[in-house]
Amino acid sequence: MATSKNMARELAIFFFLCCTVFLPSLAGSDDFLQCLSQTIPSDLVYQQRSSSFESVLRSSVQNPRYATNTTVRPLCVVAASGVPHVQAAVRCGRAHGVRLRVRSGGHDYEALSYRSVRPEVFAVLELSRLRVVDVRPAEAAAWVDAGATLGELYHAVGTADRRLAFPGGACPTVGVSGYLSGGGIGLMMRKYGIGADSVVDARVVNADGDLIGSVASTDLDLFWAIRGGGGESFGVVVAWRLRLSMVEETVTVVNIERTLDEGAAALVAKWETLILQPYLPDLTIRVVVQDHHAFFQTLFLGRCSRLLRAMRAFFPELGMAPADCREMTWLRAMAFIGLGAADAPAEGLLNRTNNLGTYVKNKSDYVRRGIGRAGWEGIFQQHLSRYGAGLMILEPHGGAVSAGVPDFATPYPHRQGVLYNVQYVVFWLDEADGAAAAAAAGWLGGLYGHMEQFVTSNPREAFANYRDLEIGENVVGGDGVTTYESGRVWGEKYFMGNFRRLAAVKGRVDPGDYFRNEQSIPPLLQRF
Ligand SMILES: Cc1cc2nc3c(=O)[nH]c(=O)nc-3n(C[C@H](O)[C@H](O)[C@H](O)COP(=O)(O)OP(=O)(O)OC[C@H]3O[C@@H](n4cnc5c(N)ncnc54)[C@H](O)[C@@H]3O)c2cc1C
Ligand SMILES: *[C@@H]1O[C@H](CO)[C@@H](O)[C@H](O)[C@H]1NC(C)=O
Ligand SMILES: *[C@@H]1O[C@H](CO)[C@@H](O)[C@H](O)[C@H]1NC(C)=O
Ligand SMILES: *[C@@H]1O[C@H](CO)[C@@H](O)[C@H](O)[C@H]1NC(C)=O
Repeated sequence: MATSKNMARELAIFFFLCCTVFLPSLAGSDDFLQCLSQTIPSDLVYQQRSSSFESVLRSSVQNPRYATNTTVRPLCVVAASGVPHVQAAVRCGRAHGVRLRVRSGGHDYEALSYRSVRPEVFAVLELSRLRVVDVRPAEAAAWVDAGATLGELYHAVGTADRRLAFPGGACPTVGVSGYLSGGGIGLMMRKYGIGADSVVDARVVNADGDLIGSVASTDLDLFWAIRGGGGESFGVVVAWRLRLSMVEETVTVVNIERTLDEGAAALVAKWETLILQPYLPDLTIRVVVQDHHAFFQTLFLGRCSRLLRAMRAFFPELGMAPADCREMTWLRAMAFIGLGAADAPAEGLLNRTNNLGTYVKNKSDYVRRGIGRAGWEGIFQQHLSRYGAGLMILEPHGGAVSAGVPDFATPYPHRQGVLYNVQYVVFWLDEADGAAAAAAAGWLGGLYGHMEQFVTSNPREAFANYRDLEIGENVVGGDGVTTYESGRVWGEKYFMGNFRRLAAVKGRVDPGDYFRNEQSIPPLLQRF
């Protein structure tokens, strides 16, 4: 039992360690810029008055809603081209009360990597110039710099050795850092696990601006937290070491579309029964339902003949035929799936520019019990077929996502018993057209409400990489630190039972809450 004298001493230590006063001010801004200039060349720091500020700020904005309207604009963009620049940005930011929003691929659904919802003084730390991918085929491993995209990683891996692969997502412009920070789901996870399961080490600049050269060998709790606990919260990852996977030289891609009249609802219901049983990790069928259709997007890690045998045994109703198959290398398959054309050259994976296209709002859910044919008929009839500008993407789990991997192995908790992730997507053409935006929001809200009966509850699970501020936002307490209770509201939906451990890691590595945004992990401070 602690004596009162001990307690008093511990409290004093606590206040000394944790309660640094953090007061952002405009006076601090000049000092911050001055401080940066001692380490970072001035042509890498874009201030608001610079003629390139807008184009650099927008360079990797992947969400048209925030291409021009970032709510609260950054003081400057720091386009780091080396790790010392990252360290200087953190040290100067800490010293002068300027926070950092870290940006790698710029795909954050709520644009939190380059905008702040609340008024505050912050700089964007842009990492896209740090993007070397160093593949070591003999070790089946790679070091990838934080600012690389998934497409750049796939290209480097697939050209180094056509039998090597990385289990990432479908969209090649997504940054590896945001992707891995949220766990990372994709078409190969049933065989190789989520993206974060293939991370074997990382280099991180911490809240003191120090570089941790090997997180895996020096801080196992931090290493656990950065593999799925969300970006921004724990420090700046500057490089990831990845284990690469072996694939066959030929894989098979198949896209099949079926209408409601052709039995789409029954086919989706049958698909639900295949995910956990039988165990077929080479086969992933992602389903997109929209309007009157279901699209079955298949990636099979082997040749067409073996795929067709499996389909005849387990899913004959889909009617997959030899002519549906396209055989190619894994790299070409990633280009096909990511760029949407079977003849897309692998080099297309290096293109970091996206068509910003339409305005979008997404939400997510997890399904642990099959919805069944009648359920799917209702979803189609009452929602999907009544509004063409919305869809649902169903990503099957099972296989290596859950086999022998407990829910606490990484912060990504949606493993044991999860059938699939649902992503709802609604789009509209013109943000200024209030009626169109309201119709889209109304449709999404109606479908999300209808789905409540089918998806998980207490908490209603959501995927951290599909960030959604509607499920909750942090509140900063009187001591200038995000409150644990406000974080729990959204955090237990993304991380479930792992949220508390994430907050404890945060409380140790960044007790002053320097690295934060509207959905960063709050520090759980050990009060006595
Ligand atoms: C078209 C599209 C397709 C997608 N497909 C998939 C998919 O198949 N599977 C999937 O899992 N997700 C998918 N996502 C979601 C995607 O994984 C997340 O949006 C992810 O956060 C994007 O990473 P980014 O580096 O591009 O984003 P950013 O906006 O740069 O960063 C996202 C978050 O991570 C933080 N962050 C960025 N870099 C670092 C760093 N180096 N260190 C610490 N924190 C950092 C940012 O501050 C921000 O909070 C998709 C997104 C889009 C737009
Ligand atoms: C900018 O975005 C915010 C938040 O989405 C919104 O409230 C505001 O009206 C927008 N401003 C303009 C000029 O579009
Ligand atoms: C919503 O999901 C779609 C499909 O994956 C994606 O293209 C879009 O970028 C996402 N929305 C946002 C806001 O990024
Ligand atoms: C990169 O992609 C964008 C958006 O799809 C496209 O407009 C552009 O032409 C592409 N650039 C190259 C070099 O292919």
